[in-house]
Amino acid sequence: MDDARLQAILEQITADAFAEPDKGRVANYIPQLAAIDANQFAIAIARPGRPTLTAGNADTRFSIQSVSKVFTLALALGTLGDRLWERVGREPSGQAFDSMVLLEQEKGRPRNPFINAGAIVTTDAVLSGAEPREALASILRFVRDAAADEDIHINDTVAASEIATGHRNFALAHYLLSHGNLMHPADLTLGTYFHQCAIEMTCAQLAHAGLFLTGCENAPRLVSHSRIRRINALMMTCGHYDGSGDYAYRVGLPGKSGVGGGILTIVPGRASVAVWAPGLNRYGNSKLGTEAMQSLTDLTGWSVFGAAPD
Ligand code: DON
Repeated sequence: MDDARLQAILEQITADAFAEPDKGRVANYIPQLAAIDANQFAIAIARPGRPTLTAGNADTRFSIQSVSKVFTLALALGTLGDRLWERVGREPSGQAFDSMVLLEQEKGRPRNPFINAGAIVTTDAVLSGAEPREALASILRFVRDAAADEDIHINDTVAASEIATGHRNFALAHYLLSHGNLMHPADLTLGTYFHQCAIEMTCAQLAHAGLFLTGCENAPRLVSHSRIRRINALMMTCGHYDGSGDYAYRVGLPGKSGVGGGILTIVPGRASVAVWAPGLNRYGNSKLGTEAMQSLTDLTGWSVFGAAPD
C-alpha cells in the first residue's frame, strides 16, 4: 500500500474518531489525568527508513502510563535475563490491571509483567543495586534511544498526583513485600514506577519508540530477535489486561495500552503504530484507540493471524 493511501486511511480514521459521540471515560483515579479533555485523538505510523505518517493531535504529549511497562520489561530482561520469570509469570490474568485477587491466590507471584503487580516487580528488578534516580535515568535513556529522540521527559506533577492517590498500588507493593517478592521499600519501588508511568510522549515519538519491537532490518537494535518475539507474545496475550482477548480478536496484533489513552501496537516486520484517545473502555484501555486500530487493520489487512496484502 502506498503512503498516499495509508495517509488517507489515517485521515478517515481520525475524522471518524472526532465524529464519534461516545468517547469513553477519562481515567479519574489519578487527578491529573481526570482533567484531560476527552475530545482529542492522534495516530502515528513509524517504519524504519520511511516517512512517519500522522493524523490528528499527533504533536500533543500525553502520559504513556502503562505503555511504559514494555520498556521496563525490555530493560529488566536485558539485565536479569530469564531470572525475571522466577518472580513474575507469563499468563494472561483475566482480571483488571490493578486487581489483588490473583496475587493473593498465587502467593505474591504476579501473573504477568503488564498487570500493575507484575510491572511493580519488574521495576523493582530494574531498581536493583541502583538509586531510584539512576533507575529512572536508565528507563528514560532506553526510551530516548528507542525513539532516537532526546526530547522525551517525565511529568513530575502527574507522578506526584499518582503518589498521592495510588493506594491500590501501595497495597499491591506491600503484599509483594510480605511474600518476599519486592527487594526495596514500597515507596522507593513505587516512586520509580509512578515516574516511569508519567513519561510523556507524542504519538509520533511513541510510534518511533516501538520500532525496536518490529524486528525490521533498520530498526534500533535494543534487544535480541528472540526477546522481540517474546515481548510481542506477552503484549498480545497480556497487553490489554482482561481486554487482551478482545484486542487480539479486533486488531490481531501485539499491543500495550495505558490509562492515559495511549496504545502502542507492533506490526512485526513492518511498522510501529501509536494511537491516543484519552477516553477509556470498561477494561481501562482507550476506547477510540481500540476502535481506530480495528479500522486500521481491517483496511490494511495487517495482522499476525493472516497474510497481509501490500
Ligand atoms: O499504576 C497505575 O495505576 C497507572 N500508573 C498505570 C495503569 C495503567 O496505565 C493501566 N492501563 N491501562
